[in-house]
Amino acid sequence: MTEPRPVTSATATTNEPELAENFGQLADFIALSRERIERALDLWLPRADVVPADLHSAMRYSALAGGKYVRPLLVYATGRAFGADLATLDGPACAVELIHAYSLIHDDLPAMDNDDLRRGKPTCHIAYGEALAILAGDALQALSFHILAVDPALLAPLALRLRMIDTLAQASSSTGMAGGQAIDLGAVGNVLALADLEDMHLRKTGALIRASVELGAFGAAIDDDAVLRKLRAYARCIGLAFQIRDDILDVEGDTAIIGKTQGADLRDNKPTYCSLLGVEGARARAEALHEEAVAQLSSFGRDADLLRNISAYIVRRIR
Ligand code: IPE
Ligand code: IPE
Ligand code: MG
Ligand code: MG
Ligand code: MG
Repeated sequence: MTEPRPVTSATATTNEPELAENFGQLADFIALSRERIERALDLWLPRADVVPADLHSAMRYSALAGGKYVRPLLVYATGRAFGADLATLDGPACAVELIHAYSLIHDDLPAMDNDDLRRGKPTCHIAYGEALAILAGDALQALSFHILAVDPALLAPLALRLRMIDTLAQASSSTGMAGGQAIDLGAVGNVLALADLEDMHLRKTGALIRASVELGAFGAAIDDDAVLRKLRAYARCIGLAFQIRDDILDVEGDTAIIGKTQGADLRDNKPTYCSLLGVEGARARAEALHEEAVAQLSSFGRDADLLRNISAYIVRRIR
């Protein structure tokens, strides 16, 4: 697979031409997955004219802002690899994307990363004010668990539904994403040991990525421990690689393409893979994780090709 070509300003707001060129059949599945998730989110999110309209409008503003939808993509691709009907996965895909959307709203707040640009638009608190942004995050999180609890298209037996709820709860918790964010904020200005940086990344970003893969597997009724172990090992690698690539794009990405302010980590004195290993060291680590991720899938057949290609996409994406 070749390195993505630099994208010119004519294509700067979209990753799609680059995707089609470098990631082949994955581009089609990304498009299909995006279409599904945007439709499903639109249906689950309260309409913007329902009281309290400003809160509902803020929730829709952030959840439908045109992210990459990598977590839904992983839910669908994992489910597809094991024969699930994608329609049964819309609920879990929405649930994990809504937790992610909430985490970004709060991540951008002045008390956290204090960023004013997200996905090429003003961040939620810039557009709606801090109070509504906090509440929009809270409400998106609640909606996520509501969907898993009641989604009629989720055909999984009750015990499996509960397992999905717990999987997402743990991934979002003080030992998962929220915990990783706390470690991130506590580490500002410090030099972390590589193992501590890796642990932080695995929590703040890896936990939701892993949950996405697990939800897809549960949605396909996978209950075999050996299979789940391999999928989790794969997810661990790509979750870590995802945040390493994010750290690299913060250094060498283009604000117009990444849709957020380039250089924010340096500005905020954040410990990142690049600050510890340099950009080339970070890139090498991400590529090694991609190879390890693919190796974890060696016993799976061609049905897992989407997952293999997603791993490549994660470490080579330009936004
Ligand atoms: C950004 O996540 C924050 C991290 C966890 C690194 P994404 O890069 O998935 O953001 P969107 O959803 O595509 O905007
Ligand atoms: C955020 O990491 C991870 C989350 C859990 C939201 P970053 O702070 O690096 O994400 P960006 O770069 O603002 O998207
Ligand atoms: Mg942050
Ligand atoms: Mg941030
Ligand atoms: Mg970042």
